[in-house]
Formats: sequence, C-alpha cells, structure tokens
Amino acid sequence: MPFNTQLQSRLPQVGTTIFTVMSGLAQRHGAVNLGQGFPDFDCDPRLVNAVEAAMRAGLNQYPPMAGVPELRDAVAKKLLTLYGRSYDAGNEITITAGATQAIFTALLAIVHPGDEVIVLEPCYDSYAPNIVMAGGTVVRVPLVPGSFKPDFEALAAALTPRTRALIINSPHNPSGTVWSAQDMQRLADLLRPTDVMLISDEVYEHMVFDGHTHLSAAQWPDLAERSFVVSSFGKTYHVTGWKVGFVAAPAPLTHEFRKQHQFNVFTVNTPVQHGLAAHMADAESYLTLSDFYQQKRDQFRAGLAHTPFKLLPCEGSFFQCVDYSALSDQTDQTYCEWLTTQMGVAAIPLSAFYAGGTDQRVIRFCFAKKASTLEHALDRLTKL
Ligand SMILES: Cc1ncc(COP(=O)(O)O)c(C=O)c1O
Repeated sequence: MPFNTQLQSRLPQVGTTIFTVMSGLAQRHGAVNLGQGFPDFDCDPRLVNAVEAAMRAGLNQYPPMAGVPELRDAVAKKLLTLYGRSYDAGNEITITAGATQAIFTALLAIVHPGDEVIVLEPCYDSYAPNIVMAGGTVVRVPLVPGSFKPDFEALAAALTPRTRALIINSPHNPSGTVWSAQDMQRLADLLRPTDVMLISDEVYEHMVFDGHTHLSAAQWPDLAERSFVVSSFGKTYHVTGWKVGFVAAPAPLTHEFRKQHQFNVFTVNTPVQHGLAAHMADAESYLTLSDFYQQKRDQFRAGLAHTPFKLLPCEGSFFQCVDYSALSDQTDQTYCEWLTTQMGVAAIPLSAFYAGGTDQRVIRFCFAKKASTLEHALDRLTKL
C-alpha cells in the first residue's frame, strides 16, 4: 500500500498569503512593490558592525534561553524610560524570534481548548491562525469602519466567560491609526473586572507622527499586570529579515511563556542579540525614527494629493491607506492586481485583513521605501 500523504490540515482555510501573491505579481510585472511591509533601504552600518564584532569575538554558541542579559537589560531600560514601568530583565523580558513568535508563544502559554480570543479586525494575518493552532476560538470584533478606532460597545458585547485574551495593535497595521489615552483608559476600565489577558502588539511603537506619542499597555498598571507587551527589533532597526523581537510581561506570565518558548525555538541567535544590545546603548536611532518615517509619509501623501485617491489619516506605522472608489468599482483585490499589472505599483487590498473579506474599496501602501522608490511609484500613480 502506498504511504498516505493526505494530511488532515490544522489550518484548512489557510492558503498562500496575499503578501506573497502580490510580491510575486510585482516581481513578474516589474512593479514598484509598495505591498509587503519592509524597508528597501539598509540598516545603520554600525549595527552590522556590532553584530560582526560579536561573531568575531566568538559569541556564536547558544545564548541563555530567555535572551542575552545585555539585550534584556537594554529593553528593560527602554521600557522604564519611555513608558515608566519597571520590568525585571531576569524574570519579565524574553527575546523572541520576531514579534510573530512572541505572539504565538504567548497564545500557547495562555489558551486552552474552548477559550475564546478576541481580535479587532482588520488585523495582522498571523493572529487568527495562531489562536487556532493554540486550540482557541477566534472572536472577531470590527474596528469602526472608516476611522478604524476601537468600538468599545462591540468589544464589551463580545466578552463572555470563555474570553481568555484580547489582541490589540497600536500603531495599527494596516490602517495606521494610533490608540489615544482615552482608548487605553476605556480598555483598562473594560478589562479590570475580568480575567481577560491582553497581548499588546506594539511593533510600530517608534513610528508615531504629528507630535503624538505611542501609548503602551505598559503605562496602564491595570493593563500591564495582564499584558504581554510585544515589539520587534526588525521594524525599529530596518532589519525585518533578522526576525528578532521581545516580549515583556509580569513574572508569572513570563514563567509560563518561557516554558513554551524553551521547547519551541529555545533561543534566538546570539551575535544578533549582542549587536542589538550594543546598538541600543544609543537611543537616538529609535527616538528619531518617527521623524524619519514622517518625512516619508509626507512625501508620499503630498504626491498622492494630486490623484483621485482619498487619503485616509495615517497617525503611525509605515502604511498609508487610500480609498480608490472615485477611480473604480472593482473589488479591492482585483483593483490591486490591476494597479500592479497595468500601472506598475503593488499595494495590498484591505479585505485581506478580514476573515470575511470585508471590502471597503480601500488599499494599503507601504512607504518604508527610499525617496527615489516613492518618487518612482508616485510618477506612476499620478497618471491615474
Ligand atoms: C502588526 C504586526 N505585528 C507583528 C508583525 C511581525 O513582526 P516580526 O517580523 O518581528 O515577527 C508585523 C509585521 O509585519 C506586524 O505588522
């Protein structure tokens, strides 16, 4: 009898992600790729030097399971300085293989079969499959269409005795909205009487515009005590391919998190951790990141101002959403394919961030690109 290769899928609904599809299409058609969210410019050469120095110094073997102490110390110092919460680097901070692994491992640590986990749609594409892989049930609550602000009435209505956790993301991918102090306070008030845990995805924490500041769950004691605060060095230092992030959480949460982490990735690569730790000594690079990206946002928005696209607000992250309904009544997916193949600029349809494919005639561009790449894309888009 031949071996039966028909596997029963844990994720039967999952196919190739839209990011891979659109990047492939962009490549085949020579389109400027403003779809997938990664910079097309290099990181600070001093960071590469610091990693190289660590490799040459022989720091190439397994690090401590939770991450090298120097990097955990640097993260704790940053969280204290920026958000005023003291995390113990020994017991409350763990270095992960990117924010994605941090979120998945947090879910593995807290979710049991029958537990519900709330996500606010549109949302980053790994959340829902990770909840399912952890044995949980995904409960989707839409952000307010148009503004993409949290809808606290809908959120309150979605809470049940089975709700184990909620995942939030500010600054937000894909919409670029940023939670206000009032939003954070309302969330704290809503969760206070419950045992619901919070996974706060803050990977764009250093990209907030127009003088606003990022507000972390770490700043609200009622939230911090139940939160896994997650961030990504990949986003902050223009090294998305290095896949290194961190999670900060109170000791009992971290204790359970590390049990899963230990037998999952175990450790994250050593020289990169040392390089990041050395580089973090200079806070300048992340403290100036908002200005750096605001210039790019402004260049891109100024260029698009002369097109029939309606620009949605962009308060943070490196994404600009536009409403194209004045140009076409095609679905957002078809419109993105047309834009890529006929106009030579790739974008991502917002419906890809909704399980039900909600189509608002809105698409997302990534402006984490060289000024020349943005100019090139704008040359093409201004012909619309
Ligand atoms: C909202 C959000 N969370 C998490 C991630 C993943 O971060 P990392 O590459 O560090 O896993 C991304 C990357 O695009 C993201 O946009």
